[in-house]
Formats: sequence, C-alpha cells, structure tokens
Amino acid sequence: MKASSKNNPITEFDAPKPFRWNQYLVGGEIHTWDGDFEKVYSPMGAVKADGATDKVYLGESPTLDEAAGLKALAAAKNAYNNGRGYWPTAGAAARIAAMEKFVALMKEKREEVSTLLMWEIAKNKSSAYKEFDRTVDYINDTIEEYKELQRRGSHVASKDGVISQIRRGPLGVVLCLGPYNYPLNETFCLLIPSLIMGNTIVFKPAKYGVLLLTPLIEAFKKAFPPGAVNIVFGRGRTLAGPIMKTGDVDVLALIGNSKSSNALVAQHPKPNRLRQILGLEAKNPAIVFDDANIDQAVKECVNGALSYNGQRCTALKLLFVHKSVSEEFRTKFTAAVDALVLDHPETDCPLTPLPERNKVEQMEAYVDDAVSKGARVINNNAGRVSDTAFFPAVLFPVTKKMDIFHEEQFGPVVPIVEYEDLEEVMASIAMSDYGQQCSLFSSNEATIAYAVDNMVNQVCRVNINTSCQRGPDYLPFTGRKDSAVATLSVHDALRSFSIRTLVATGADQKELVGNVISGGQSTWMTTDYLL
Ligand code: G3H
Repeated sequence: MKASSKNNPITEFDAPKPFRWNQYLVGGEIHTWDGDFEKVYSPMGAVKADGATDKVYLGESPTLDEAAGLKALAAAKNAYNNGRGYWPTAGAAARIAAMEKFVALMKEKREEVSTLLMWEIAKNKSSAYKEFDRTVDYINDTIEEYKELQRRGSHVASKDGVISQIRRGPLGVVLCLGPYNYPLNETFCLLIPSLIMGNTIVFKPAKYGVLLLTPLIEAFKKAFPPGAVNIVFGRGRTLAGPIMKTGDVDVLALIGNSKSSNALVAQHPKPNRLRQILGLEAKNPAIVFDDANIDQAVKECVNGALSYNGQRCTALKLLFVHKSVSEEFRTKFTAAVDALVLDHPETDCPLTPLPERNKVEQMEAYVDDAVSKGARVINNNAGRVSDTAFFPAVLFPVTKKMDIFHEEQFGPVVPIVEYEDLEEVMASIAMSDYGQQCSLFSSNEATIAYAVDNMVNQVCRVNINTSCQRGPDYLPFTGRKDSAVATLSVHDALRSFSIRTLVATGADQKELVGNVISGGQSTWMTTDYLL
C-alpha cells in the first residue's frame, strides 16, 4: 500500500539540544563509557520530496558490552548478598525514606523527561506529561501500599499453640526490561515495587526511549544504596542474554513480547528458580452488539484503537460489529478516524509519527495482505504520510484468512469484522493466543449479562461500553495465555515481587518472642506500626 495520505505534513518544531550520554550506574558509582555508542534520532523531522524523513538527531547512548552487563549483575548480586545485604534486610522506614528521596529528586526532572518522551518516541505533549505524573503518583501510592503491607506484617498471631509472624520478603536479583511505548511508566511499575520490597535490580531501557531515562540516573544514585539499582544501556542480545545464562537472576520482569521473554527464560540454567513477571502481547477485541449505542461505541473504539497510534498493549486491535449496525458503525467510525489529526507531538494532536524502524512498512504489509484476501481500506485518509508516519487505515471486511485477524498489529491499522452469529465471535476469542481484555458495547442488560459471563474466563478485564485500558493503577493488570504472567497493580506488584516468609515457634517461647520484639534488635521481628 503506497498511497500517500491527504493529511497535512508534520509541522516542524525546535528540537532539544542533542547530547551524548556516556554514563551508566553500577554498584552505586556512575561509570563513564568509552566504547561504542548508538545514535538516537527522533521519528520527527523535515519530510523530503521522496517521503523520507530527515530525522532530528537527539544524541547518542552507550552500547555497553557483555562485560559491563555482567559487572552490573555482580553489583546487584553483591548488594543482595543472598538476602543478607543492607537493602534486603533494611527496615521499612529506611526503604520508604530512600523511595521518598528518589521521588522528590525525580519530580525536579519533569520537564526534561517529558520533553524527551515527546521527541524520542513521539508521545503527544499531554500524554508525555501525563506519563510522568502518573508515574510519580504510582510511586507515592506504592509507598502507601507498602506501609499497609508492613502494618499487616507487624501482627503476631498465636493459634493452636503456635506463635507466628508473617511478612513478605524479597526474591533476589531482578532483571528489569521495559517497553518503548511507556518507557517511563511501565518500566517503573516493575522497578519501583521490586525495589521497595528489597530486591536488587539490573535495569536496561528498551530500544527506543533511552535518553529520556538519563536525567534520572543521578537520582537513583543519590537515593538508593550501592548496587540496589544498576542501570545499563545497550542491546538486549549483548547484555540480557549473558546475564540470564549466569543463573544469577531470580526474577525476570519484562514488558514486551513472549518471543523475547521465552528466549531469555530458555537461557537460564535453572528456570524453576526464575520468577517471571511479564506483560506481553495482546489482541483485545471489541464486540459492538446490535443493541449498542453506536455513537458511544464509535467514540470509544476510535480512542481505544488509535490513541498513541494504537501502540498500546491494551489497544483495541479487532472490532467485531453486528451486521445490523455495521453500516452505521462504519460510516461514523471512518468519519471519526479521518477527522483525527496526525502531526508533531508538540501540537498535542492524537496521531503522531511512529518511532519503530520499518513500522510504516509493517502497517502497509498488514493492509496489503488483507486487501489481497478481500478486504478494502474504507477510510479516505489512510496510508503513508512519510517513512515514519502512517495515517490509520480501517480495513473491512476482515476475515480469519487475514494476518491482521490473528496478529498484534501494535500500530494504526483497524480491522473490522462483521458478524451475525455471536457464537462464532466467542469461539474466535476463545481460540486466540491472547487473553488480556475486551470491550463490550451494548445498552441492553441481558446482552451485557450474557456476554460478561462468556468473556470473564477468556480475558482478565471486561470493559462495558468503554475502551480497554490498564488504569486506574489500583486495578489488577494481567492476562491469560500469551498475554501476561503474574499480576500488576499498586497492590499486586508488591506481592508479585515478594514471597511470604514467616517466623514460628511454640507457645512456650512466648517470653523469648516478647523479649526479642520489645528489645528492638530485630528489624524483621518488630511490631512497630508505620504511620
Ligand atoms: O502498553 C500497554 C499499557 O499497559 C497500556 O496502558 O491502558 O494505560 O495505555 P494504558
């Protein structure tokens, strides 16, 4: 599909001053890298006559070698010290103080980080600031939830002649790998809870969205003890693979795809020891029933399928629409899509260029495949704007023969499937490799009741008359099948990154237990109540 969009070209704005980042954090020290570097370009820039973008140069990031990655692992292992290091044994007050110091320092970097979020991964202005603010809120909420967990752990029980105290303890060394679409928020939703629970971390940013993390390195160094957080830059194959091969990683925390996580897990010599906390691919469907409020369904589906150009794991990626309302839905949906503006993220428009290399070609391939098998592009503005920008294409009628029916497009192509028999829709969803969320559009209580009961065991969140999303962050975020392993939320992440540990003794030890607790010599055996 080579047709050019009729949309306006991307407006040009002054870019941030490029910088060469040559530092990484290992064992509490900021090291200077003098090996290879990777040039970082924005997906924005002047579009030349041939459609190629003269991408704005943003700077360089280090591509560390295997030895540097292994040093970071050794520092994390050393700081953990088989659970006897300072950080895993630190009391709750010390961990909270470190986290509070970090969040205070982080807040000072709001402008820098949000600006780089815009320029590196083309997240529009309000979403970039929102990602930053949401992350700060997440950290503050995590601190409060951690206090609550500690309060519960301060309870000493006596039952059936057994005195016991139960707390959640750390798991060990965490390898943390975040995604490019939420390089700050989703990464920190792994890193922050794992850290506050006393684990030690090796963190490597995703392929895109690297420079935006650099303003925070100093804050990590200042707030946390040496080795608790180690931050390395470079390629996954060079750094993550060899780190996994050592067998020294206790938790793989990754938001990305199952191909990467499976490849990493396979390299661990004792995978039974490895806890996996994974947010993976999804193919969230919407079902628009014959009794839906079409205007509401259109609004939610446009937003659900195309916010941040569809580059969200929670995006609606397949729309099933009942035949009796299909024409009305398509007419209104295509008009709404064509009314969207694709421009520079500084303009805060809903659609922006795509940061991934060859993404435009991938979108064109999905369209070409579907068209060759009988679908049509039914909106007017669809197609390539430049080599980094693609105006959304709405495909209809999409069938099971087409790649886009099964695969996660993670971009601006919206497939519409017309249905008459709901059982066929339900069967397709049940057969899908994915099981994160779905959206149901109907105003009828009987329809919703039936659909909810049939969907709750296919996915992990059923949204009624609203698009799919992760937030608010107190809700559990997980998935079935190839979509996730473990559950994340402010509350659940603390559980996922920890294990229940208890101290128990017979009732005849009451005096000893009482003396240990009142003596105040143990940070673990304490009944101190955190306020
Ligand atoms: O990429 C997947 C994100 O978890 C989606 O989060 O629903 O807040 O955009 P969101």
